Amino acid sequence: MPSEPEIRILHTPQDLFQAAASEFATRTAAAISDRGKFTVALSGGSTPKSLYSVLAKAALPWEKIFFFWGDERHVPPDHPDSNYRMASEALLSKVSVPPGNIFRIRAEEKDADVAAQDYEQTLRSFFHLRPGEFPRFDLILLGLGPDGHTASLFPETAALGETKRLVVAIWVEKLKTHRITFTYPVLNHAACVMFLVSGGDKAEMVCTVLEDRNANLPSQKVQPVNGKLLWLLDQGAAGKLSKK
Ligand code: 6PG
Repeated sequence: MPSEPEIRILHTPQDLFQAAASEFATRTAAAISDRGKFTVALSGGSTPKSLYSVLAKAALPWEKIFFFWGDERHVPPDHPDSNYRMASEALLSKVSVPPGNIFRIRAEEKDADVAAQDYEQTLRSFFHLRPGEFPRFDLILLGLGPDGHTASLFPETAALGETKRLVVAIWVEKLKTHRITFTYPVLNHAACVMFLVSGGDKAEMVCTVLEDRNANLPSQKVQPVNGKLLWLLDQGAAGKLSKK
């Protein structure tokens, strides 16, 4: 039975990113203590950049942390829109993580479906999955888009109904581009999913996602079956919630 989300509201954006970094560190220590490694799927967009900058100053066992991405734009890794490039500049290039611990989506591939299939194989190999099995990430970071999307699971796209594949490529009409994204089975198999949302411009959507059960938004379908669902918000993003 999916658990109710735990909602943490922090006063300022700085408090938010510090709290997220602290959660990241806590989960890293626990996973390494239990199984000798920590697997995390990073989110893209602009919000997590500040978290990555805070993490870049942290003393973490980088050699035991394995980095993946929950989604990627259909661009090369050096493109300004690349989620990999953003994380690399803000965090990965600043810490001693071994290159072999970084598994980016090869979104330079001209056929986005091939990039998705390639990444799915990467996951199957790394997690030693048998057919029908899904990877269990220790932590998946997610953001919230203005239309209620998360990762690259956009409203009215075929990806929302995918129950077998781990990674799919979708055409996003409003952006006139392909995206490559984890599917819900991967998101909902995680030990912890942490949404990170900052700013008053997200307040209306945050309220809808967390309080309107009939909104039928992509981010509402993130419900870890046997895992923790965390929403970390700053006061701005939480501004419209009825329950504070
Ligand atoms: C992406 C993200 C996407 C993002 C939201 C919020 O590739 O853009 O995966 O889901 O998290 O769109 O983006 P901002 O943090 O820029 O508001």
